[in-house]
Order: sequence, then C-alpha cells, then structure tokens
Amino acid sequence: MSEESETKGKQELVKVTIDDQTIEVPKGTTLLHAAMKLDINIPTLCFHESLPPQGSCRVCVVEITDKTGKWTWIDASCVYPVSEGLSVQTQSPNVIKHRRAIIELLLSRAPKSEVLLLLAEKYGANPTRYTAIDKGEANCILCQLCVRTCNEIVGAQAIGTAERGLHKKVISPFSIAKENCIGCTACIHVCPTGAIVAKLGKESFEIEDWGVDLKMATCSCCDKPFAPTVHLEKLKSQVNLKNQLWEMCPECRRSANKVGTPYSPII
Ligand code: SF4
Ligand code: FES
Repeated sequence: MSEESETKGKQELVKVTIDDQTIEVPKGTTLLHAAMKLDINIPTLCFHESLPPQGSCRVCVVEITDKTGKWTWIDASCVYPVSEGLSVQTQSPNVIKHRRAIIELLLSRAPKSEVLLLLAEKYGANPTRYTAIDKGEANCILCQLCVRTCNEIVGAQAIGTAERGLHKKVISPFSIAKENCIGCTACIHVCPTGAIVAKLGKESFEIEDWGVDLKMATCSCCDKPFAPTVHLEKLKSQVNLKNQLWEMCPECRRSANKVGTPYSPII
C-alpha cells in the first residue's frame, strides 16, 4: 500500500485539552464526546446518543480558547467539532455564569421541571428570575427530542411542533391524534424534562395533550394490560416471532420462553 493511501485509510487525530487533561481524538469528534472520554461531566438536555446533536438547549456550553491562546469564546460542546490545539474549560466562572443564565431562561418555559430545578440548585440559578410562560405545558423546553425520535427513529411521524415564539408547542398534527401513534412511549423515554404524561389504564393508553387514546392488549396468561394493540401489530409486521408470544406480557413471555414450557424458545 502506498504511503498516500495508507494515510487516507487512517483517521486524522487532533489534540485537545479539556480541564487541563489532554486527549487525542479523531478530527470531527465533538467537544462533548471528547469530554466524555475523559470522564468529564458536562450537563446536557437536548442531546441523545441515538440522534445527531442539534445544539438547542445550550446547557452544555463550555469556554474554548484557540491554539494561539488569543481568542476565547463560549459555545455548545455537543455540536462543536474538535480541532487541533483547542483548550477547553467546562467549569470556569464564565461557563457557570452563562449556564446559570441559560437555566434561568429554560425555567421560564418549564418552571416545574425537576431536572431544571436540580440544575438551578447546582449552578446557583434563580428559578424565578423570569416570568414563567404558563401555557399549560409547564415542563416542555421545546428541545424536539420527542419529535425527532418519533420521526427519525420510530418512523411514526405522530407529533410535530406548531405555532411560533412563546406559543410554540409539541402537538399531534392539527391537535388530532394521528392514527400513526403506536403508543411505543419512545417520546416519553427521551424527554429530558418529564413533560409527556401518559395514563395507562386497563383498557387504554392515553396522552391527553396529544389526543392519543389507544386500546390496550391484555396478557393471555395473567390478564394484565401490557401494550397498545397497534404497537403489537406494528412489531408483529416487522419481526418474525412466534405468534403466541405476542399475546403475553414480558414477564409471562420470559417464563414461557424457558425450555420445558408449552411454548418453544425464541431463537
Ligand atoms: S416534550 Fe420533552 S422531548 Fe418533547 S420537546 Fe418538550 S421537552 Fe423536548
Ligand atoms: S445538550 Fe448541547 S445544546 Fe443541548
């Protein structure tokens, strides 16, 4: 192999110093990922490993100095690609000042968010510095993780954002629950502020704000409701599992899956 093609095959590495620790990472790595490799904790809200970063909440800001040492600025670490010789501070007084202001602004949108209140305590932010925007969804910071997960990962496209500015919110299109919602609950799991509240009853799975009301399937063994029927139908169409297993809740399915039971093991 020629020297040129050998270099092309290799990833270019760059050196960055974060909180006085130096690390070499592939060019293009974000500052957040470089910090994670050093076990340096930077708070995040709108970042999720399963989706490309979008840099919307800004709580992950850090202080960056270029390799000449002449220029220093504040930027969001989850979207900032590392370049050679950067020096980064994650907890400098300047970073804390900016992070505190960002938390205070986010709290005006989501004043009841436990995670924001904990961050406020940690960084000395005043939770009531700005008047709360009370729109009845007091926990949503419009990070869009739920919408992106629904669209880009699950592929259901059941929710989106509507309106603008102070009135912007996450809803199902035209506020009517689309039949696309399969009640997978992925949106609930990725939401950093616990803004999506679902009610799980014997008969139905409801997300009131989005008009979602899905019929629940009950376990053929223990009679417990365990998943929306549309979710099971969607999974059944995608995965080739033995039919009778779809009629059971996860606990009964696990015990049925043991060798020696009337059901065959999942291969
Ligand atoms: S509901 Fe949660 S995940 Fe969705 S935009 Fe609001 S804060 Fe983000
Ligand atoms: S986590 Fe970086 S901007 Fe939200």
